[in-house]
Amino acid sequence: MAVTPGKVTMEKLVSLSSRRGFVFQSSDIYGGLSSCWDYGPLGVELKRNVKEAWWRANVQNRDDMVGLDASILMHPQVWVASGHVKQFADPLVECKKCHLRWRADQVPGNVCPSCGGELTEPRLFNLMFKTFMGPIEDEAGIVYLRPETAQGMFVNFLNVLTTTRRKLPFGMAQIGKAFRNEITTGNFIFRSREFEQMEIEFFVKPGTDNEWFEYWVNERLAWYTRHGIKKENLRLRPHGKEELAHYARDCSDVEYNFPMGWAELEGIANRSDFDLVQHSKSSGKELNYFDEEAKQHYTPYIIEPSAGVDRSVLAFLCDAYAEELDKDELRVVLHFHPDIAPIKVAVLPLSRRENLVKFARDVYADLRLCWTVQYDDAQSIGRRYRRQDEIGTPLCVTVDFESLEDNQVTIRDRDSMNQIRLPLAELRNTVAAKLAGEEFMKVPPGGKVWRSGEGG
Ligand code: GAP
Repeated sequence: MAVTPGKVTMEKLVSLSSRRGFVFQSSDIYGGLSSCWDYGPLGVELKRNVKEAWWRANVQNRDDMVGLDASILMHPQVWVASGHVKQFADPLVECKKCHLRWRADQVPGNVCPSCGGELTEPRLFNLMFKTFMGPIEDEAGIVYLRPETAQGMFVNFLNVLTTTRRKLPFGMAQIGKAFRNEITTGNFIFRSREFEQMEIEFFVKPGTDNEWFEYWVNERLAWYTRHGIKKENLRLRPHGKEELAHYARDCSDVEYNFPMGWAELEGIANRSDFDLVQHSKSSGKELNYFDEEAKQHYTPYIIEPSAGVDRSVLAFLCDAYAEELDKDELRVVLHFHPDIAPIKVAVLPLSRRENLVKFARDVYADLRLCWTVQYDDAQSIGRRYRRQDEIGTPLCVTVDFESLEDNQVTIRDRDSMNQIRLPLAELRNTVAAKLAGEEFMKVPPGGKVWRSGEGG
């Protein structure tokens, strides 16, 4: 029967993710915990790669940025000053019949979408998770699980400024967990109650903030496309004035064309001096900056590109997913950018014969000093290629009986399915070059083109 390649859907991604070990439902054996997810062996590599690519671009490769890792629990006054205790709330309605709760702005009319019952009047529901610090569970011990990583950077502004002796403009970058007791969750890892953020707080001189806002919008869009996201699946959506968060002067969302439609991947905000002024007032510490050139003190403005790790992982998965016809078979491929791919190379011996296994194991041991590598000797070579395609491994190194004679191996390219053969001594450098984007059919000295397209 003829097979037809289909489009990416959320169902296909959820199924592939749990079948291949990218993402599992949290506490699965207990029936799962709603809107919490566990990253499996491949998911954790994928997520680490996303975070590392972000850190490399925004911290390591820049001389105007420093990193931070603040604690999740912070002084409760932080969330009063930031406005979260008062304003970080969604209007919620409850069904008088089945008692399900809904976000008021997501249900049309006054009728429960589940049972048709009458809904209550909206009331504000704060999204912060509360817990208690110390052995006594009373008001005085209340602390919050941070709903954003940003505040850790604002309250460390002076610490970082004085210890690094930075001049404006400069930024802080942080990756870490955030928690929100979302009323409606869903769409897999798109909206959950425990998630990770990658946030930048970029401190600039007031008056230069619009320029820096534009700069960061372009920089962040370019980061996604540089790592393989298709341009046509990204768009920028400026917020209308009525939509702006309480701290923002300006904000644009980077949206991605997810299977359920266009939705926010990252928010880029001009927070003005709101946060530093609020924390100055609340803590009594002057959070300002002395500009030596202008010989004046002022409170910096902040440009904040704030991305979700989990949403980025989802976008990378959606964008990479393809179903392709190979002769009359369907192959599922994740066309990840090599920097994002969880496994970079697979080593596949053609048989389990002892001398071949020894050779292949040595190749595996050598390559894994540099990259995440899988060794797979189960089932036919065709099946093994398909398994690697499905998890997005860019390169497969095949060891065959000729390898024992000529000390050469074959590399197969995931995307074109072309193969080249090369001396073992060239393997490491060639893998490095291909992962860095070298044309696949360019062969190293002593190598040759082996096969065009698939075939055994
Ligand atoms: N400090 C600003 C801030 O937190 P936000 O727009 O509320 O802004 C930034 O969040 C990013 O964090 C979002 O663009 C999204 O990628 C991610 N995010 C927010 N809530 C999330 C949730 N419930 N689940 C997964 N990711 C979330």
